[in-house]
Amino acid sequence: MSLNEKNTREQWGSKIGFVLAAAGSAVGLGNIWKFPFMAGQNGGGAFVLLYFAILFVVGFTLMMAELVVGRHTQLSPVGAYKKLRKKWAWVGGLGVLAGFLILSFYSVVGGWVIRYIVKAVTGSFNITDPEVLGGLFVNFITNPTQPLIYHAIFMILTLGIVIGGVSGGIEKYSKILMPSLFVMMILIMFRSLTLPNAIEGVKFMLVPDFSKINGSVFLSALGQVFFSLSLGMGAMITYGSYLGKDENIIDSSVQIPLLDTAIALIAGLAVLPAVFSFGFDPAGGPGLLFITLPAVFAQMPLGSIFGLLFFVLVLFAALTSSISLLEVCVSYTVDEWKWNRKTASIGLGLIIFIMGIPSSLGLGTWSHIKLIKGLDIFDSVDFVASNVLLPLGGMLLCIFIGWVWGLDNAYKEVTNDGKLKFPLMRVWGFLIKYVAPVAIFIVFIQGTGIYQWVVNLFK
Ligand code: PFF
Repeated sequence: MSLNEKNTREQWGSKIGFVLAAAGSAVGLGNIWKFPFMAGQNGGGAFVLLYFAILFVVGFTLMMAELVVGRHTQLSPVGAYKKLRKKWAWVGGLGVLAGFLILSFYSVVGGWVIRYIVKAVTGSFNITDPEVLGGLFVNFITNPTQPLIYHAIFMILTLGIVIGGVSGGIEKYSKILMPSLFVMMILIMFRSLTLPNAIEGVKFMLVPDFSKINGSVFLSALGQVFFSLSLGMGAMITYGSYLGKDENIIDSSVQIPLLDTAIALIAGLAVLPAVFSFGFDPAGGPGLLFITLPAVFAQMPLGSIFGLLFFVLVLFAALTSSISLLEVCVSYTVDEWKWNRKTASIGLGLIIFIMGIPSSLGLGTWSHIKLIKGLDIFDSVDFVASNVLLPLGGMLLCIFIGWVWGLDNAYKEVTNDGKLKFPLMRVWGFLIKYVAPVAIFIVFIQGTGIYQWVVNLFK
């Protein structure tokens, strides 16, 4: 890349614009849809506790690491690694692959959200019977064609925004909609918390049952931290690459994970108390949000308007995340293969849409197909992307910064060449170099069963 090109790289219109856009990438279906059902499936409080532990050791650390590499190189992941050490470019490629996989099923769920917006408009949010609500959801997602139409609509919306470019497209949307979503979620949480028996859900989510902790719960929590914070695949490298040299990376690396976690907790406290109040199954899986919240809306004054607004805001949160997923893939082809942004967005959007089809069908017509550990196609793609590729990408980035590129270079970038004070700099360095990569490695080999497999080999 010539100096001239580098200087003309688009930058964020304002500091708050960047934080909102990066937070927009982080806050999405991962917080609102995935966190509550993952907590529900993995023992509630035990999962939440592990989530926090991993957030502190790995989450903040890697957020800063990705922003540092992105801003230093002003390039998307593959270009960034290539510029620093050519041999490491494949790690960036791994991230692009993860982006492809995640967006393929993310867009399917985004489509469900659009379907629920349509439902709200047509006034079907007055049912509280769990059987009926569950039946409606299952009927919809197991239908072979309907979800695909909505999946296509979601993908078209995503690529439409990505074609618009960085500050023009992304920033404009996040500024208004993120704060609205926050307020909306708090209102729904209050309604849910005041339902009869809601306290059971609160206890389930906040009181850890240590006997529930095992390798696979640990790995799920690890995968969830990566997924929710958009880490491990270079999304934050890409966003950091648009960040000006005098911005404060330290503040952003704390603010984004905190905001993201707050929203996940609020979503958990909106969904799980209602799950217990209405007698749903907390381990009900990906349908939990879509089955539970309509029941909550039915119990609210003006519930159908609330329901409509809620799903519209969730759609925007999902879009601010999906655009970052597509952006990783697009900026790779634009930076590395010199593709034109529009062609790249449309072409990649189409490929990812097609890749999402088996995930969607895997919940209905193809539900007999099990790929990994007895999981259907949808869950298998999620598992490979969230629990394998993202943690791997994160671990490799730690090793890269700690042992290859060097902490001194990273320190310089974090502190804007010594201009900013960062009292915890050495702690961060220690986490990057030793603690985070080892922690990820241990959780990974335990949770995937690799460790057990190796032990058995030597028995
Ligand atoms: N963090 C997003 C969410 O929680 O919905 C999903 C996501 C976006 C994951 C971007 C990874 C990523 F690079």
